[in-house]
Amino acid sequence: MSEAKQMKYEKPDSGERVDEGGTTMKFRPVLHALTANPGADMMDYARKKQNIITLGQGEGDAPTPDFICDATMEAMKSGRTFYGPVLGQERLRQSLSNYYDRIYNLDISPERVFVTGSGSTAMHLSLAALVDKGEEVIAVTPIWKNLIGAIELTQATTKQVSLDYIDDEWKLDLEKLFGAVNERTKVMLIVTPSNPTGWTATEDELRQILDFARERGIWVLSDEVYGRLVYEGVRAPSFLDVAKEDDLLLVVNSFSKTWAMTGWRLGWIVGPKEAESKIRDVALYNKLCPPDFIQFGAMAALDQGEDFLKSQLDLWRSNRDIVVERFKKMGNVHLSYPKSTFYAFFKVDGEEDCIALTKRLIDEAGVLLSPGSAFGESSKGYIRLCFAVSEARLTEALDRIERVIAPKG
Ligand SMILES: Cc1ncc(COP(=O)(O)O)c(C=O)c1O
Repeated sequence: MSEAKQMKYEKPDSGERVDEGGTTMKFRPVLHALTANPGADMMDYARKKQNIITLGQGEGDAPTPDFICDATMEAMKSGRTFYGPVLGQERLRQSLSNYYDRIYNLDISPERVFVTGSGSTAMHLSLAALVDKGEEVIAVTPIWKNLIGAIELTQATTKQVSLDYIDDEWKLDLEKLFGAVNERTKVMLIVTPSNPTGWTATEDELRQILDFARERGIWVLSDEVYGRLVYEGVRAPSFLDVAKEDDLLLVVNSFSKTWAMTGWRLGWIVGPKEAESKIRDVALYNKLCPPDFIQFGAMAALDQGEDFLKSQLDLWRSNRDIVVERFKKMGNVHLSYPKSTFYAFFKVDGEEDCIALTKRLIDEAGVLLSPGSAFGESSKGYIRLCFAVSEARLTEALDRIERVIAPKG
C-alpha cells in the first residue's frame, strides 16, 4: 500500500475535504476551495495530442534576445551567484526609476520600486501585504485566472465586476464598479491593459477610480504588465500618472512580456515609500530575494531593449490585423479590435459553451486556445487567441480554425 494510502484518515465535520484528485492529507481547506482553472485543463487536454499549434498561452514565441542573455551570462560567470538584497539590487531599482522617467515621464524614486521574482510574485506579495480572511477584493473581469487564484489563496473573498461588451468594445461602467464596494472592500484590482480583452483604462478613468478609492481609504492594486504592449504611442496610461506619492496604490509590473523574458521570472512593484518595509517583510519570508544574475539581464533590457520591443510590436500589430481581418470575413465572429496586448478575445455566433468549442478546436483543428470561462464568470462564451507568433504559424492556425468555425455553405 502506498504511503499516501496508509495516511488516509476520515474525520467528519473537521472542515477538511477530500478533493477530486483523491487527496486525503491534511492540506489547508482553502486549497480544496480553489475554483477550477479551465485554461490549465485545456492545456492538459491538448498535451496528449499531436501536431497542435498553441496559441493558448500568454507569451510570444521569440526567444529572449542575445543582449539580455549575454549580460546575464557575464554576471553569472563573474560570480554573481549569491543572495542579493531582498527588494533587488540598488542599481536595478535605480534603472527602473530612470525607465519611468524616460518612458513614462514620471518621477519615481528608487525606494518606491520593489523588485520581485516575477509579476506573479509581485501580485502575491502585494495581496499578502494587504488582505486578510474576511476582507474583499473587487476584481475587474474578464481577468487572468491566476490573479483570481492569488486572491483565493489569501482567503479574502473576490467580487467580480465585469467590463461590458457594447458595440464591439469592452467598456468599464464606473458606477457598477463603485457600487460593488462595501464595508469589507479592501482592494480594487484592475488589470490595464487587460488580459484577455485588451481593454485599456483611459487616464480619466484611472483618475476617477483613484479619487474614489482615496476618499474611502481603499487600496488600488493595478496590474500593468501589458503597459508597453500598445499599438499607438509608447505606453498605456498608468495609475502612476494620476497618483500622489502616498496614495494607497501598488502597481505590479514584469519583464516577461515586454522583453520576451517569461521564463526568467522577474517583476517589480511600485508603491508608496511606506510600503517598502512591509513588502520587504513579506518578500524576505517568501523568496528572500530575486535572483541576482538575472537582474543584470533586466538592466540590459531596460537600457537597450527599445528596438527589440519595437520589432516585436511591429510583428504583433500586423498579426493583429490579420486576425481581425480573417474573423471579420468569416462573418460569424465578434471581437473588439485590440489596441493593446497580444490577445484577440472573440465570440462565435451560436457557440455559447467555450469549453466545448475549445475542445473541438483542439480535436478538429489541432489549435489550442483559451476558453473564456478561464477569465471570470461573465466571459463564458468567449475564446482567447494569443497572436504573438510568426505570421506563418498564425496563418496556419487561422486556416485550421476557419475550417471548424466558419459558417458552412
Ligand atoms: C495580467 C497578467 N499579470 C501578470 C502575469 C504574469 O507575469 P509574470 O510572467 O511576470 O509572472 C500575466 C501573465 O500572463 C498576466 O497576464
